[in-house]
Amino acid sequence: MRLRPEVNGERLLRRLSDFAEIGKTKAGGVNRQALSSEDRAARRLLADLATARGFKVFQDAIANLFVRREGRDATRPAMLIGSHLDSQPTGGRFDGALGTLAAFEVLEALEDAGHETASAIEVVAWTNEEGSRFAPGVMGSMAFVGAAHPDDFRSVVSGDGESFSQELAATLAALPEATTRPLGTPISAYLELHIEQGPSLEREELAAGVVTAVQGTRWLAVTFSGSAGHAGTTSLAYRRDPMVAATSALNRLQMSIMPQDDDARLTVGRFSTHPGSINAIPDHVTFTVDIRHPDALSLAAIEARIRAVCEEAALSQRCSVEISTSFDMPPGSFSKVMTDRIETAARALALPYKRMISGAFHDALFVSRVAPTAMIFVPCRDGVSHNETEYVEPPHAINGARLLLAATLESMC
Ligand code: GLV
Ligand code: MN
Ligand code: MN
Repeated sequence: MRLRPEVNGERLLRRLSDFAEIGKTKAGGVNRQALSSEDRAARRLLADLATARGFKVFQDAIANLFVRREGRDATRPAMLIGSHLDSQPTGGRFDGALGTLAAFEVLEALEDAGHETASAIEVVAWTNEEGSRFAPGVMGSMAFVGAAHPDDFRSVVSGDGESFSQELAATLAALPEATTRPLGTPISAYLELHIEQGPSLEREELAAGVVTAVQGTRWLAVTFSGSAGHAGTTSLAYRRDPMVAATSALNRLQMSIMPQDDDARLTVGRFSTHPGSINAIPDHVTFTVDIRHPDALSLAAIEARIRAVCEEAALSQRCSVEISTSFDMPPGSFSKVMTDRIETAARALALPYKRMISGAFHDALFVSRVAPTAMIFVPCRDGVSHNETEYVEPPHAINGARLLLAATLESMC
């Protein structure tokens, strides 16, 4: 008798706990930043689980990791499902891990049931989705779709001076059993399950979000330069203080951009001074700006405003300012065919859902350039993410995996 493939909820929860041990923080989250030893340990565990089930393991030049379960016809492109295993420095246990492990659960459920699919299905763990250790984010999917080449990131260094290239090489070498494959191996479609990272599904008591689009993101690095000087002896008239310029610019931006537009997001997550001495006027002040908007023109207008405000603030302090863009992810939409398949699957499972757009960026947006793509969101407690207290109720995690399985099978015919 043929069994129907079923998600094993207990196994999924156990896997989530096992992976949460890797890079576990005191406050119950994870620090498993891209290409770190913790990231390598998570990749090792996934590869071992895959090998134990007889699945093949591959990696490409940017260390995107693929786990393949064969289908009937090996010549057809594989259907891809997955997410990422890297985390923020004080990240949660579910951001990325849920989507990767639920995708692996899909493979295991198919294997348990002896269910043959028309083409292979592969689980992917994308490299450096977060971009917190090595900027920008979503490097793996950008390289996969040809929007960037791994060499473009050769000179990237982390905040503590570690080289992206060296860490990439060490990560690739840590999985010698993985077969090397070219970047951009063709796929038939891509589905990614993720936590919402916002409060709407939980508030509306919905089991799932069918994600139709992702808002745009830009990352800027702003450096104000002035003149270093003595804190005690330099009177106002003699100061060229980049701190005054930076803080007044930030104050103007923070008091205007988000208050004037509900859809706009502006975040300064990193701020540093040089030389960083308590009793010296700094000569340089640097900060990052993360801006988001669902509309490409509005995103460009926000960047233009940031540039203008910073120029004015620099001038007012006889300082200079340099602004560079380190990441530009235009807003984009997912495939209607794929979102319809998710909806069909949600209805079949009687899971209440809504269509929605994503405030966070995801690898899926780059992948949508080369294959029909969509995402499934599940609720997370209070919408909290990029925080060690991030939490997903077990039934939501399991229902997400069930929906991913059903939508994957829906995409197989
Ligand atoms: C993803 O991690 C994001 O910052 O949107
Ligand atoms: Mn994520
Ligand atoms: Mn994240």
